[in-house]
Amino acid sequence: MFINRLTRPKLILVKKILFLVSILCLLYSCKEDSRATAPFDSYSVAKKIRVDKGAVVSAHPLASEVGRDILMQGGNAVDAAIAVQYALAVVYPNAGNLGGGGFMVFHTGEGESYSIDFREKAPLRAHKDMYLDSLGDAVPEWSRNGHLASGVPGTVAGTFLAHRKFGKLPMDQLIRPAIALAERGFAITEREAGGLNNYAEDFRKYNTRGSAFVKEKAWKAGDVLVQKDLAETLKRIAVQGQAGFYEGKTAELIEEEMKRGGGIMTAEDLKQYEAREREPVTFKYKDYTIISMGLPSSGGIMMQQMLGMLEPYPISEYGFHSPAAIQLMTEIERRAFADRTEYMGDPDFVEVPVAELVEKSYLESRMADFTPGVPTPSAEVSAGLMVKEKEETTHLSVIDEEGNAVSLTTTINGAYGSRVVVGGAGFILNNEMDDFSAKPGAPNKFGLLGTEANSIQPSKRMLSAMTPTVVLKNDKPYLVLGTPGGSTIITSVFQTLVNILEFDLPAQKAVNAPKFHHQWQPDLIYVEKEFPQAAIDTLEAMGYVVEERRAIGRTEVIKIIEQGIEAVGDRRGDDSAAGY
Ligand code: GLY
Repeated sequence: MFINRLTRPKLILVKKILFLVSILCLLYSCKEDSRATAPFDSYSVAKKIRVDKGAVVSAHPLASEVGRDILMQGGNAVDAAIAVQYALAVVYPNAGNLGGGGFMVFHTGEGESYSIDFREKAPLRAHKDMYLDSLGDAVPEWSRNGHLASGVPGTVAGTFLAHRKFGKLPMDQLIRPAIALAERGFAITEREAGGLNNYAEDFRKYNTRGSAFVKEKAWKAGDVLVQKDLAETLKRIAVQGQAGFYEGKTAELIEEEMKRGGGIMTAEDLKQYEAREREPVTFKYKDYTIISMGLPSSGGIMMQQMLGMLEPYPISEYGFHSPAAIQLMTEIERRAFADRTEYMGDPDFVEVPVAELVEKSYLESRMADFTPGVPTPSAEVSAGLMVKEKEETTHLSVIDEEGNAVSLTTTINGAYGSRVVVGGAGFILNNEMDDFSAKPGAPNKFGLLGTEANSIQPSKRMLSAMTPTVVLKNDKPYLVLGTPGGSTIITSVFQTLVNILEFDLPAQKAVNAPKFHHQWQPDLIYVEKEFPQAAIDTLEAMGYVVEERRAIGRTEVIKIIEQGIEAVGDRRGDDSAAGY
């Protein structure tokens, strides 16, 4: 039984009065400092297309073009998303994958919503303390790199489940472009060359066989990457279907790789893997309907919590990137991440109080101790319910002529996953086991903490932050969005939504705008390096600790506008939009 322990109506009234006074002060201080809303045109990169019929945005131009071609051949949004996912597995080894997992949110042109869970699972031989040393301390290396770090991949099963339910064109037609890219090769981008060079040492260290990713000289932009083994794996999938990955030669190659490298995944793990259809998280935010991913992703529930906590506040009046808006969103993020840590995990294994976590009165009470201009230390913010007795991911958005919208996020977790390339099969395995909580209090690679709810158990799915989302306006698709970024996925989607729905920013600016992030612990506001200095100064004066970090998110947005479709890729990567 769950009891709400924060119900202080009088305190709320006093806080509201204090809040209004503080907002006026903060708005005044913003007006005095034009840098607080510094223009970001100077560093905005336009990756926007306007089309009439269908559009695709993904992490790589070649993959987006594959998706557009499938739409033009008469495929629907699901067909295009599947083809893009297979193409990304070839042209974007950093995160595109066969050896990972993910989530798909699908809204049909007829108005129905679906979601598919193809999250990786812990192998049957996994156990709770498998990443603890003899002193009981978590050893991050074991869950982050090498053979022991991989969960049972779900991506191929996910594409087949989606295709069985919604696909129009034959599966082999959707995989063929990826086979051609792997077999003939393609010119790598400067960013991919940099990634492969940065991780060259890791590829040598964690692999038992040579791979297409390692060569003697450093990679440079324009080098042609040919992946013959991967092409053969893709052919087996195209010919044999799902069994071409989970059984037969590919499964044998994975098991042999595991044996050579000291991993625990077996052919039996692969055979037992199933993708699942789940109920999507659907809720109203003002005039919009938000459709997002439920457990085992925390993304949709947290989006409902955060937008629910935000709704009573007139944030659009505070101003985009104003200290008042940033502080309010920071405090909301802090509280939602505290709840995630305590309660969320694989719903097939743990009871998660979802209804209570998103209840309106609970969300109001959660903000009862929020004071404008004053940080609430994370140490004083524990999970809000009382119960008696923890980067590399990639997102793609598609819309087709019939109004079918697909939001698909997949991951191998870290850049190039576990860095293990399956010998003879040519694909990289995930290091998703690090998304479990190895031990309460031991942070994962994103600094996320966890409790029993997200502890390791055989066949359990590790908690995710992936937030593929579709937004409806007047019951019709309005936005299709999502992003990679580990724990920052949730706050990136949250900010992009607020930027568009509340601050009315054009989609490209909403995506390109520098972001901030708070995840309860560590008690810091992370900001991208372009973040306005004046806002940082004001937040620091309030008592917040602000730390600069690398890029936050790579958000792919499709927006339905009066004149048609606007598709926007993020400036932070090679992301690109294609359409017709
Ligand atoms: N591996 C990132 C996530 O699933 O949240």
